Amino acid sequence: MEIFHISAECYPVAKVGGLADVVGALPKYLNKAGHHAKVVVPGYDNKWTNENEFDIVHNGKLKLGWFYFNYTVLQERTGKLGFPLYLIAIPELFDRPNVYSYEDDTERFTAFQIAFLNWLVESDQYPDIIHCHDHHTGLIPFMVQQCYNYKRLAHTPTIITIHNGQYQGWFGFDKMHYIPNFDLSRTGFIEWGGLINPLAAGIKSAWKVTTVSPSYLEEISHSANGLENLLRFERHKSVGILNGIDNEVWNPKTDPMIIGNYTLKTAKKGKEKNKAFLCEQFGLDPSKPLFAFIGRLVGEKGADLLPEIFHNSLREHYEEINILVLGSGDTFVENQLNSLKPYFEGNYNAYIGYNEKLSHIIYAGADFLLMPSRVEPCGLNQMYALRYGTIPIVRRTGGLKDTVHDFGDNGFGICHDQASVFDVNYSISRAVGLYHDEKKMKQILNYILQIDHSWEKAAGQYIDIYNSLKPL
Ligand code: ADP
Ligand code: GLC
Repeated sequence: MEIFHISAECYPVAKVGGLADVVGALPKYLNKAGHHAKVVVPGYDNKWTNENEFDIVHNGKLKLGWFYFNYTVLQERTGKLGFPLYLIAIPELFDRPNVYSYEDDTERFTAFQIAFLNWLVESDQYPDIIHCHDHHTGLIPFMVQQCYNYKRLAHTPTIITIHNGQYQGWFGFDKMHYIPNFDLSRTGFIEWGGLINPLAAGIKSAWKVTTVSPSYLEEISHSANGLENLLRFERHKSVGILNGIDNEVWNPKTDPMIIGNYTLKTAKKGKEKNKAFLCEQFGLDPSKPLFAFIGRLVGEKGADLLPEIFHNSLREHYEEINILVLGSGDTFVENQLNSLKPYFEGNYNAYIGYNEKLSHIIYAGADFLLMPSRVEPCGLNQMYALRYGTIPIVRRTGGLKDTVHDFGDNGFGICHDQASVFDVNYSISRAVGLYHDEKKMKQILNYILQIDHSWEKAAGQYIDIYNSLKPL
């Protein structure tokens, strides 16, 4: 089956968060299972694009309202990613280093989606499935079915995967003319709450809607930033599929980014080596348990709670614990995290920024990974932590609820119910107790290193969905 995955992000091409990891891995495993999965992302002007080679496979023009843009489809030359990768270069709109957060994101991603469909039609391609990810590609299921230009694709099955329902890509009806002509009686398909809502449009028009964990599917029927009723209405075509992880990239035995590789048998020593490196780099004490946080410093991740959590735990367990943060986001939180450094020198440090290599070393070297998320559709960090033998401390929500079970209930992690300072401080105290129970720690390490969250397992559920969608 030929499946096109369309996304704003794809690891290692362009990554902001977990969306990139999923789009960079799932297609590879679909191909291993005998399908023809391809990935299409915008052509950003970033390091990865500049360091790799491409062939031009198509040149075209697109119309966005009153404006015309030239676009070029480029194919990565070697196929080394495990799937054919196509970049759609639209120089005026994507010739920039970052993925998001430009004033004209609406224009950028609408043009990207139009270019993708123009390319399919102009080059006579009829994929078996078009698989969209998040709101940046949410207009595609609608445009495929309703826009006159894409009539020939109208019967192609479309899927939208919701990685994060908080962001919906809303824009006003003053920009409706960006969308290629369609029967205006169908306008209801793109509207939600008086605005054009690309995520809602995707949910309404796609043949199937998936969320990245079963618990998140349940949660968004009650809390989805305004889409609750729509999601309840479309429940009959929705499925929650837990993400997998790419066991080839995230493998402590072979990972070239970590300091000492290790297997199940050598895990204790291997982890110590990585921890020793981190402690040396960040002025921490390797004889103390190391708690880490990796992620976007935003409210969804509970990042605003971190300064107070750290302050309390570091006072309560003075000189008994280490804390290390890797993240960027909200400037206020970044500053607060930086300002704790002088008070807790030797026990606390923070790297404000994005650093892929450092993230791997932290997954390998930390003892505990904190995830006090308010919203976590799936969460990959806890699965990477488990894969590297690090115990996750999570709030029971979304994918965290589906993947981590408390050691007090015969599980292997530490769980709390509220995204509150008190709950996390309490969990940290429980973790300190657990750390000193050597037998239990050994047992848990042994167990978590063998948990299988690989895409090999998870991809099958997508394949079942693809098989169930026969073109009309
Ligand atoms: P989200 O996509 O909501 O940010 P996920 O848990 O799905 O959360 O995925 C986050 C991904 O981004 C993981 O691969 C994580 O290691 C990575 N990541 C987040 N922040 C950083 C950072 N500052 N440096 C390096 N990697 C990061
Ligand atoms: C989103 C979610 C995160 C999920 C990721 C990959 O960024 O916030 O929970 O793991 O997508 O699906």
